[in-house]
Amino acid sequence: MIHVSQLVKYYNGLKALDNVSFHVMEGEIFGLLGPNGAGKTTLVGILTTEVKPTSGTARIKGIDVVNDPLAVKHLIGVVPQHRSLDRKLNGRENMLVMARAYGVKNPKSRVEELLALVGLTDRADNGIRQYSGGMLQKLLVARALIHDPEIIFLDEPSLGLDPQARIAIWDEILRFKDEGKTMILTTHYMEEADRLCDRVAIMNQGKIVKEGTPEKLKNEGIMRSVVTLELKRISDDVVEEIAEFEEVEEVQVIEKGFTELHVYTHNAEKNIPQIIKIIQRHGLKVYRLRSQEPSLEDVFINLTGRSLT
Ligand SMILES: Nc1ncnc2c1ncn2[C@@H]1O[C@H](COP(=O)(O)OP(=O)(O)OP(=O)(O)O)[C@@H](O)[C@H]1O
Ligand SMILES: [Mg+2]
Repeated sequence: MIHVSQLVKYYNGLKALDNVSFHVMEGEIFGLLGPNGAGKTTLVGILTTEVKPTSGTARIKGIDVVNDPLAVKHLIGVVPQHRSLDRKLNGRENMLVMARAYGVKNPKSRVEELLALVGLTDRADNGIRQYSGGMLQKLLVARALIHDPEIIFLDEPSLGLDPQARIAIWDEILRFKDEGKTMILTTHYMEEADRLCDRVAIMNQGKIVKEGTPEKLKNEGIMRSVVTLELKRISDDVVEEIAEFEEVEEVQVIEKGFTELHVYTHNAEKNIPQIIKIIQRHGLKVYRLRSQEPSLEDVFINLTGRSLT
């Protein structure tokens, strides 16, 4: 559906995109994750024909974004990061401007349909200066859908929204997926990427540093889980035996009145029963056990050395 090959973008001397390649299949939600300045909006800008690449190619349904931007525009809907609404107009008028720009049939009824979809019918007569951040975002989503595009780009769709509004946007996005739409989504929220995206690309300094399903990124060898066990006491032999497992990276013993054992492992599922066996063999007892899986956030920090929040 979307094919990106060796994209490079320089802004004067600054390399914003450094040889980016990936593809997105029909019906997929593809996430772009990365810290500020990673190049996400630049990449979306090229795919949506707003930004010219320095070199490389991008095709949407086989159409080159540089050679035929108009054809591409009819296939895509864009929810931009920087809100581009006309502040002199009310919500409904903003929608109508877009409907006319796209030559949508029956623009008035299409606009009403979309306003209802995002729950803005009651406020459609208000000037958008009176809109809250969440309402503006909903209007942008509705506007991006005006010509019923097959492919939707969402650049930070839930930035600055409260949890309730964010969940409402997530529901919309999942509904689009059910309708078979293909989406590219940029986000700073790991949870958002984890929940919505079929695959994600982690970007840093203009490059894709990792790509895969959220599951794959979390499970890949680079990340480790922490298994925490609470015991009355422990012996050095036990610690040594546990540390010998191939998948175990480190064992820490923390005394808190009782003993807490932290086992850092690449394969908790396999090691947990083995660890318990060793402990039991030494006549010791585990009072509590918990295992914490790596989050996408851990993966991100591991790859970029930076936190997103
Ligand atoms: N129009 C422009 N002119 C010059 N430099 C730009 C322009 N747009 C972006 N840049 C630079 O390109 C780099 C990538 O910016 P971009 O907006 O693509 O990042 P981003 O990943 O979307 O960041 P954010 O998470 O803050 O939205 C940054 O260093 C930015 O300063
Ligand atoms: Mg951006």
